Amino acid sequence: MNTNSFDKYIHVVSGQTDLWKAMEHVTSVESQENPFYVCNVDDIIQKYMTWNTLMPRVKPHYAIKCNDHPVVLKVIASLGLGFDCATKMEIDKVLSIGVDPSRIIYAHTTKPPSHIQHAAKRKVDLMTFDNELELYKIKEMFPNARLVIRIRFDAKAAVCLGLKFGCNPYTEAQGLLEIARNLGLNVVGVSFHVGWACQDPTAFYGAIKACRHVFDVASTVGYDFNLLDIGGGYPGDSNSSIEEHAKAINSGLDEFFPDQSIRVISEPGTYFVDSAFSLACNIHSAKKTIEEDPNTGKPITQYLYYVNDGVYGSLSMTISANVIKVPKLLKKYPNEKTYPSVIWGPTCDSTDHLIKDMLLPELKLGDWIVFTDMGAYTLTLVTPFNSFELPMVYSIISKRNWLLLHKNLPFVEKDFIIDDITESTAKSSEKCYKLPESVCVKG
Ligand SMILES: Cc1ncc(COP(=O)(O)O)c(C=O)c1O
Repeated sequence: MNTNSFDKYIHVVSGQTDLWKAMEHVTSVESQENPFYVCNVDDIIQKYMTWNTLMPRVKPHYAIKCNDHPVVLKVIASLGLGFDCATKMEIDKVLSIGVDPSRIIYAHTTKPPSHIQHAAKRKVDLMTFDNELELYKIKEMFPNARLVIRIRFDAKAAVCLGLKFGCNPYTEAQGLLEIARNLGLNVVGVSFHVGWACQDPTAFYGAIKACRHVFDVASTVGYDFNLLDIGGGYPGDSNSSIEEHAKAINSGLDEFFPDQSIRVISEPGTYFVDSAFSLACNIHSAKKTIEEDPNTGKPITQYLYYVNDGVYGSLSMTISANVIKVPKLLKKYPNEKTYPSVIWGPTCDSTDHLIKDMLLPELKLGDWIVFTDMGAYTLTLVTPFNSFELPMVYSIISKRNWLLLHKNLPFVEKDFIIDDITESTAKSSEKCYKLPESVCVKG
């Protein structure tokens, strides 16, 4: 295996994609010791299908801050989805793969002036605001932009709330809309973000109700809104579902926005990528310690393992959001005695601590531990501390889904590495698997 094929290409596998087989395949190379991700493209496609079935009225704009790996961006673009970008650099990443600017929402309410100018230059004209000074900046830099007022509406249960952004829909929205109107700006709709990994689906219903209020206020100010943006916040790990979220959203839309001419978009990040990515880390060092149990006085053997990705790399959520990821072992140790074990990340800082206490068999140097559900806010949060490199990504897709995607722009044939698919197999099975109709296939 050549690691040059990582990051750039998607490997087409016959049958179903299998994370564990892919990990074994990569780690079977003797010299392979760097941490790496497996990205299961089938998982992203499945998420898209599920979204379409559950919420056909809501058109996702993928939040690229969550994971901007080129394979993710191309898959999302090839499915015909839109993008939520928060900076000029994110805008350029999306435009660089050939996405039309009309498919982007610049969803940041406090933007550096040069980024607004850049959006104007690149014709990304849909953007959010939540304060008066932002309106003056936009008036100066991009007076023809289409604006979306972001309100604050927090879920009761979410991992991170949107404390930083959004205006109060009941006490502040009207004043802001009046200022925008006096400046001659074009405000077209409302947005919100209930918080990351929202476990309170009713929050969406409440937020949609608050948006109705803002739509009504806007019409008294002289605006005729046509856009509702229900933000991100949907869970995306392999144990969660968005069915309850969809029920709350659909009932909010039916009740407060029955007019089908209102365009409804969303900004999911985590939902699309979390379960698609798994991270393998290598144990490069280990220590055995023997301490006296303070209660019994008996010796306790503990193992300390040092792996090559940590809280300054892919696992920063361990300290920033207290999200503890529990690893699995790639190699099986059936029926072995287990010991209290600690797992440390690779940097020189002792806050780089992944697992404080876990029962594990005695592992060997070179063994691999695997963290699943690692697609969201991992690669995009890696720091350069101690100069560790960004883990590479080995992407896989089943033959069936390759047939679905490979002819959709921005993909070209050479984006895929096909070991076992002949042209004749491809052609014969092409007819039996079709994209849902809403998908836009260019070219
Ligand atoms: C404005 C906005 N939209 C969308 C998202 C994506 O959120 P999530 O990954 O929870 O779907 C975020 C995340 O911070 C955000 O701030």
